[in-house]
Amino acid sequence: MAVPTTLPSPWSVLRDGMHLIARFVRRHPWAFGLAVFGAAMYAAAIVASAQVVGWLTDTVIIPVLDGGADYRRKIWAGVAALVGVSLWKASGIVLRRTAAGWLQFRTRQDVRNRLLEHQLDLELSWFSQQSIGDLLAVADSDTDRGTGVLAPLPYATGVMLLLFGSAAMVTSIDVWLGLWSLVGLLVIVAIDVKGAWTVYPLWEDVQEQRGRLWSLAHEAFDGALTIKSLGREQMVAERFGVSSDDVRDGIINVNSRWVTYQAIIRALPAALILVLIYAGASRIKAGAISAGDLVTVTYLLSLLAFPVQLIGFVLFDLSASIAGWQRVQRVFDADEFMKYGDTPARGPGRAAAVDGRDVQFRYRAEELILDGVEMDLNAGTTLAVVGSTGSGKSTLTMLLARLWDPNDGAIHLDGRDVRSYGRSELPREVAYVAQNAFLFDDTVTGNITLGEEFSADDVTTAARLAGADTFIDELPDGYESKLGERGASLSGGQRQRIALARALIRRPRLMILDDATSAVDPSVEAEILRSLKQADLPSTIVMVAYRPATIRLADEVMFIDGKRVAAHGTHEELLVQSPGYADLVQAYEEDARRRAGEAGAAR
Ligand SMILES: Nc1ncnc2c1ncn2[C@@H]1O[C@H](COP(=O)(O)OP(=O)(O)OP(=O)(O)O)[C@@H](O)[C@H]1O
Ligand SMILES: [Mg+2]
Repeated sequence: MAVPTTLPSPWSVLRDGMHLIARFVRRHPWAFGLAVFGAAMYAAAIVASAQVVGWLTDTVIIPVLDGGADYRRKIWAGVAALVGVSLWKASGIVLRRTAAGWLQFRTRQDVRNRLLEHQLDLELSWFSQQSIGDLLAVADSDTDRGTGVLAPLPYATGVMLLLFGSAAMVTSIDVWLGLWSLVGLLVIVAIDVKGAWTVYPLWEDVQEQRGRLWSLAHEAFDGALTIKSLGREQMVAERFGVSSDDVRDGIINVNSRWVTYQAIIRALPAALILVLIYAGASRIKAGAISAGDLVTVTYLLSLLAFPVQLIGFVLFDLSASIAGWQRVQRVFDADEFMKYGDTPARGPGRAAAVDGRDVQFRYRAEELILDGVEMDLNAGTTLAVVGSTGSGKSTLTMLLARLWDPNDGAIHLDGRDVRSYGRSELPREVAYVAQNAFLFDDTVTGNITLGEEFSADDVTTAARLAGADTFIDELPDGYESKLGERGASLSGGQRQRIALARALIRRPRLMILDDATSAVDPSVEAEILRSLKQADLPSTIVMVAYRPATIRLADEVMFIDGKRVAAHGTHEELLVQSPGYADLVQAYEEDARRRAGEAGAAR
């Protein structure tokens, strides 16, 4: 386990903690106020109970011991006072726990909701740098930890009041005893602070390790198919085991350090009581205080032993909270937001003309992916984007849908820069269908409409155009069949066709298909594309294509090579003009022939 090398100062831990608490409390001041009021009631009840015990000692027990005085009348008053104080204490506890619990769970829920909203507003570039498992850990265990301090906080605030109240009461009985108590209690609190400061960096480590553990778990579930097909369960389980051991060791390490401090803190109140009995005895001898006073003081301090430990627990929680919250804050600090203009969508009905001017793009500073891309596409054209693997076809189509922004140059829809569109306006013009169709855990209809208002007719028309109607009709509940997480109950080709229907129903003015029918049979794919063309959609279509039959269906072809548009024209023109294109298409054709041969042999 990585051992932290630098320790932050205890004051910086406390300061960060106070800021964190202030941030939470500002959002729900009433709940916090009520919880502290409950804690203050409890603190006052403890001080009062010590006073009742002292008063009983002086007025009932000692006179009885001295001369057998009649105690019956007074004992009832004493019992009534003790019961009253207990009820008072119980009400304080109920009020504090209810309000503190509400505060903690409400804050947790707020933080989770805000986290998700914040993340969904961020650019894809931010997501591409994150580990999904780690983000899940932030939303779950880091948020839990980050807000964990809120539960014991009101109690600890009450305990602080109790300490001051007790010190004041002991001082009112005797200044010297008050001084001794105050010093003793301050020493205990100081040891608590030191303990929290020591475990803070260890907590940071534990939270990081938890993040790694979640990433591994996520990867194992997401990659279950690959892991099983290659028989690598053992390797994945071992990797997970090592990471989970790290988390366990981290937590044990934190706790063992903390327990050392706890042992000292537990012993100190008893030692303090001994000192006070010794000092108190001499004060009784000097006639400064009564025996009842000393009973009050020692009883009070014995009651304080547990609450004082609780300050330690809060500081312990506080250090874990800061460590967790810092990981939450890192997500809130991400500000890679897409900037939007105010251009409205024109709405469906007319295909869009598309152009790209001197488009340059890089995912990472050191690697140029597209450079000086120029393109012009008339409204209603079907364009096939062709290029070798890794040439930047998907990247270009994502730029057209503004999933990323170019580093230089611009892309226009009907002459309007895609960056000038208002928020949520561009998706009303452009539909992007990726190769890996993502389906939600919903019905077929739910996956096509995605919660928007469409008629059942619209849904079936879109499904028919996408070549999905036949298999949907065969599903047990037709369009109302549940598809499971990520559409697990469907084949790859079926998923792709539902994703295509999802795009078609929105009647986009520009439809982008990034190899969106790759998992569909070549003959079915050709049929789908033919029916799309015949439907005479009010859409310009840009499709990344590999199959020669598909490429031939397009009006125009754009060949991407050497980070730019190397050739643009009809398929026949490109075969003549561009040797690179001719070679690539020939390779595709040979591949298609070979596959067809294999399929024939299999039959
Ligand atoms: N998120 C990313 N971060 C960094 N580099 C990336 C990212 N996505 C793609 N690349 C790189 O950009 C280049 C172009 O990728 P792109 O996916 O656009 O190629 P492609 O032409 O669609 O390839 P394919 O035919 O295999 O789908 C590749 O070199 C790839 O490694
Ligand atoms: Mg691609």
